[in-house]
Amino acid sequence: MDNQKERIKKFVHLVLVPCPLQGHMSPMLHLAKLLHSKGFLITIICTQLDPASPSCYPNLSFKTLFDIDAIASELSYNSFDGDVVLYLCVLNNKCTTPFRDCLSKLQQNSSYGPVSCIVYDAVMYFAAAIADEVDIPRIVLRTSSATTFLALSLDLKQTDLITKEIHFSEQPISEFPLLRGKDLPIFNSSDDEAKEEVLLKIHHGTETASAVIWNSLQCLEQAILKKAQDKILSPIYPICPTLHYNNQNGFSLIIKSSYTEDESCISWLDTQTPNSVIYVSIGSIVKITQSEFLEMAWGLANSDQPFLWVVRPGLVISGSNGLELLPNGFTEIIRKKGKVVEWAPQQRVLAHRSVGGFWTHNGWNSTIESVHAGVPMICWPRIGDQRVNARIVNHVWKVGIQLEENLERWKVESAIRRLMVRKEGGEMRKRAVELKEKVTVSLGQGGSSCEFLGKLVDFIRLL
Ligand code: UDX
Repeated sequence: MDNQKERIKKFVHLVLVPCPLQGHMSPMLHLAKLLHSKGFLITIICTQLDPASPSCYPNLSFKTLFDIDAIASELSYNSFDGDVVLYLCVLNNKCTTPFRDCLSKLQQNSSYGPVSCIVYDAVMYFAAAIADEVDIPRIVLRTSSATTFLALSLDLKQTDLITKEIHFSEQPISEFPLLRGKDLPIFNSSDDEAKEEVLLKIHHGTETASAVIWNSLQCLEQAILKKAQDKILSPIYPICPTLHYNNQNGFSLIIKSSYTEDESCISWLDTQTPNSVIYVSIGSIVKITQSEFLEMAWGLANSDQPFLWVVRPGLVISGSNGLELLPNGFTEIIRKKGKVVEWAPQQRVLAHRSVGGFWTHNGWNSTIESVHAGVPMICWPRIGDQRVNARIVNHVWKVGIQLEENLERWKVESAIRRLMVRKEGGEMRKRAVELKEKVTVSLGQGGSSCEFLGKLVDFIRLL
């Protein structure tokens, strides 16, 4: 009997539910690989919107929720014009029934046996509702920082703080003095009701999960993770799956993106001097205005530093690759001083010796990838959690310079010079390297990330 129990425990089947946005997909797929390496059988249930190429993951099983292309295109993020909240609301509603059906088929027919646990991205809260309905334990993956979780959990309504003005305030929040009003997460949505519903469901799902896996590390947010643990009660595991996996295996996992990765930027970087290049990317979902785009372009040109700039299609105007919006003569500047690509192998770029600074929107993945590479930042947060992350970079780790929201070319030029040329930037680079060393220790054998992964494995086996 004991042997049989042992055998059953050995083959534990986990269902993973990622969110089909780049910044969310990557941590979940890396987590899938880590859990598989620990002996779990993994089925990934995705939406076919931005599917991971199953051929890149021969040991994982994939199921898609929608067979019909029409539904997939209706749910494409691009058709929501940057309204993340509305997108998540519709996505969760559309996924509920197909997920229930898919899970039921898996329970009956999977060669992996019945599902022991559902591990889902916090924003895919439909998975939590169905898991509770069919009584399967669930673990949530938080792809953003623990600081963001606490910032979102401030019950601003009760303290009468929830005014539009608070988001411009320089004053520290009394319940959470690390953040000023202007650092609080911001979600501009056309639908206030949807916003409240989405944020509440994400939050509730986290607080009631059997455990929480965090895309963060103890050395990055120690005190905050402790506070989050006091609030959540279930165990939390700050493993930081992407960095953990890449630290041990190199950047070997291919995460399929909607954009074409341009390898030529690596050979271009090879021709530049160490720490001289400013790398510029504002992630996969933020859009900017034409005027911001031009101020960026002229700021980069006037700074006189070499630059590698990711201009993804649709960054400024849907259907445009952005380059045709650049002023006459700019192509010549690019040829002399810079390189523009549609999409870059970001982690390899950040690890390149020529890269000395990262102008980022502070998506959480970009932020931790920069820290892992020891690269200081120019922070230009736009939406969601990015303002919180920028505050951590500037105020806690002290490895960045904040650009104010209203972008002007002279401000860009000055920030780049401060970071890349001045003593101030050199000191930030030193602190960034010190932080990188702490992160590397956390991710190595015996480090906190490995310890938490071990504890998570034991926890799941006992569920
Ligand atoms: C979104 C939100 O904007 C972000 O605030 C939240 O924390 C996660 O979800 P995104 O805007 O895409 O994410 O930013 P980020 O979290 O930084 O993720 C972008 C990912 O795309 C990173 O892993 C980065 O390495 C990758 N990337 C980006 C590339 O591989 N190539 C590029 O050219 C640009």
